[in-house]
Amino acid sequence: MTSQDQRQSVTDNTPVPTIIIPTWNEADNVPILIERIKLAMAELDWRIIVVDDDSEDKTWQVAEGIAREDTRVSVIRRIGRKGLSSACLEGFAASNTELCAVIDADLQHDEALLPQMTRQFAEQAELDLVVASRKLDNASFGQMPKYRVVASEFARRLSTLALRVPLTDPMSGFFMVRRETLTDMQDKLFGRGFKILLDICAAADRPLLLKELPYNMRARHAGESKLKWRVMFEFAAFLIYQFFGRRFLLPPRFIKFCLVGLSGVIVHMSVLGISHKLLLWSFLYSQIAATLLAMCWNFVLNNSFTFGEQQLDGTAFYKGALSFTIICGIGSFIAVSVSTFLNDHGMIWWLAGFVSVVLAAFWNFCVNNVFTWREQN
Ligand code: GDD
Ligand code: MN
Repeated sequence: MTSQDQRQSVTDNTPVPTIIIPTWNEADNVPILIERIKLAMAELDWRIIVVDDDSEDKTWQVAEGIAREDTRVSVIRRIGRKGLSSACLEGFAASNTELCAVIDADLQHDEALLPQMTRQFAEQAELDLVVASRKLDNASFGQMPKYRVVASEFARRLSTLALRVPLTDPMSGFFMVRRETLTDMQDKLFGRGFKILLDICAAADRPLLLKELPYNMRARHAGESKLKWRVMFEFAAFLIYQFFGRRFLLPPRFIKFCLVGLSGVIVHMSVLGISHKLLLWSFLYSQIAATLLAMCWNFVLNNSFTFGEQQLDGTAFYKGALSFTIICGIGSFIAVSVSTFLNDHGMIWWLAGFVSVVLAAFWNFCVNNVFTWREQN
């Protein structure tokens, strides 16, 4: 009997999971994790899909090396697309097994839990979701920094309250789900940000049958966490989408753009007020100062938040900043000219200033959407 046959015989009734490993600069961690999964899942059948966002450390290449040796492993190298949730969705879409799991590449999640997760589905036919929780008895956050534990707790309360998700750890990044359950909700998923599990729970139009298993979160093995301040914004956008976006069917990017724009208006109006009324600069100079500052503010926020999926880093960041500045410069020229004309013809300073903001915002979104953050494929 070959090892393949042996595996078949033990797994007769056990559904097969595809373990999705989203990666971004995890070249040192991926080979170790895959080895550990192989060991943990030795008695079961499984697949692995590594979804890498074209990491600079060439994680995709390392994973492709492994995939050549073992046909159960495959790799998706995404060019010009970014984001943890969307990477998971792409992995789901590429899988063809009954179950899908998601696990961090950095060895923080205990892969020894995978067989137990898989067997839950064999035991309970209608089960939708199994979540590894750091909140059940005996479980822990490991060495996660205190502020992250507090932030996680805050987000948990907010989402339990707002979305009525009956999970002890809805922020968990380690879970297994029935593929059919995903297929049913595919068109309702938000698909952006970090919280794919929360997204799944919120998109379901019936109560999901779920099971939680305790585990101890370990410290990240190599590299650094990608969960930085952008994630907080993503989470805010997610909640806004749950409350408004799904109801009014506005594209999330448009909602985000309006939010950044709104914060830009506050920056613009404050600078305009201070320089024109306090420092007694002329209206024209105050407008230029306000426009420049609001422009920097908007670029940084739009790059990490509104256009997070096409976020520009490294040299592309500076090229983008240049293109953004030129486009906004042209927009500002139009806006400042119009508002100065209006002010000269008797329109009160704050109203003329506001008109210029609306004009510039409209121009900036349309033109930058096409040139600065164009989709790469
Ligand atoms: N493809 C892809 N694209 N993968 C990504 C991206 C991305 O933009 N950002 C992060 N990843 C990968 C990382 O390489 C890692 O394998 C996994 O997604 C989680 O990222 P980490 O950087 O390790 O996140 P974390 O450990 O801070 O956060 C974890 O715990 C949170 C709960 O506190 C994750 O599991 C989160 O999902 C979870 O909410
Ligand atoms: Mn991690």
